[in-house]
Amino acid sequence: MPYPHVLLSAAVSLDGYLDDTGPDRLLLSSPADFDRVDEVRASVDAILVGAGTIRADNPRLLVNSPERRAARVAAGRPEYPLKVTVTATGDLDPDAKFWHTGGEKTVYTTDEGARRARALGIAADVVPLGAGLGWRPLLAHLYDVRGVRRLMVEGGGTVHTQLLQQGLADELQLVLAPLFVGDPKAPRLFGPGGYQAGRLRLLDTRRIEDVVLMRYEPTAPGTGGSAAAADRHWLRLACELAAHCPPSRTAFSVGAVVVAADGTELARGHSREAGDPVVHAEEAALAKIPPADPRLATATVYTSLEPCTHRASRPHPCAELILRAGVRRVVTAWREPDTFVTAADGTGTLREAGVEVLVLGEYEAQAKAPNGHLLG
Ligand SMILES: NC(=O)c1ccc[n+]([C@@H]2O[C@H](COP(=O)([O-])OP(=O)(O)OC[C@H]3O[C@@H](n4cnc5c(N)ncnc54)[C@H](OP(=O)(O)O)[C@@H]3O)[C@@H](O)[C@H]2O)c1
Repeated sequence: MPYPHVLLSAAVSLDGYLDDTGPDRLLLSSPADFDRVDEVRASVDAILVGAGTIRADNPRLLVNSPERRAARVAAGRPEYPLKVTVTATGDLDPDAKFWHTGGEKTVYTTDEGARRARALGIAADVVPLGAGLGWRPLLAHLYDVRGVRRLMVEGGGTVHTQLLQQGLADELQLVLAPLFVGDPKAPRLFGPGGYQAGRLRLLDTRRIEDVVLMRYEPTAPGTGGSAAAADRHWLRLACELAAHCPPSRTAFSVGAVVVAADGTELARGHSREAGDPVVHAEEAALAKIPPADPRLATATVYTSLEPCTHRASRPHPCAELILRAGVRRVVTAWREPDTFVTAADGTGTLREAGVEVLVLGEYEAQAKAPNGHLLG
């Protein structure tokens, strides 16, 4: 199930707080950074905040620049991004600025919360998601029903923590402000709980007046049958590697990456790499990892095409190599067509052996792209 690209955006004090405990919102960003945030808002389809932020800050969440709004309209988009909030209780203030400014609004809530929210008569689409609110159904609904492809999440800490801990954040945009809050009762950016092991990837840093913008990307694969945002990033990389294969009329171009549970890349490979005319992508990647590496048992193999099960060029097909390596999770974009082998079923073979295999069909077109000449 595809989800929007989820971008978490926040400004944080040097001691990790989002706000103080005073009645007014603590301004952490600088004027130039508020303008950067405005630019990011203008680029997305929807902006989400938790009901706690509406209660605490009473934000409007608008694109303030008339030029940016005009550019959105000229591009055929609504003047303002969709505004979204989440609440379990439905405890919303109908006079909050959120409802009376900007464009369309959506409230995701529980069945009970929906009864309460609808009784308030606010001008918003109220979407109940059952007895509890799950982030995956919410993101799927935003993607499918509201057409949201890029979602900016502007807090607060409860919402940021859940999205990051559930592996649903594609990107973090954090601004570090040079001040301290020092009050343990103030809200923190990230709360306690289970985060990815290992390190996130630093994508970018930028000085903006006296604050620093840092952009990070989570790296740890998901677990079991649920795809994490990082799974999509690694599979996209595998598809990009497929485009680097020397061309062939007799074999597919495939890319593969092997990633440890803490997000460390163990190896990558692609078809026919390093002058070997018959090597497969998974084979090339696995050959670079010592077989006794204990991280293989909890690693994920990303491959643009499902691992092969029959092979004339070498004695061991890639599904077998993956099983021998002890890998228990594979993420792929494309099931093997009958071009060279009839009814190949690497996914079925691996699943029968107890390996979790995820097929993320939204990357199939990218996986096929370097193989167009073989598909007719
Ligand atoms: N510095 C910054 O960049 C920044 C940005 C935004 C906010 N903030 C600060 O953050 C603070 C607010 O943060 P917060 O953590 O208290 O609130 P929050 O994350 O904005 O909202 C939490 C509320 O959202 C709803 N919610 C969250 N997860 C849910 C789920 N899975 N299912 C159903 N409802 C869910 C609940 O609403 P109900 O209680 O209604 O059920 C919950 O109480 C404020 O002080 C604000 O100033 C700072």
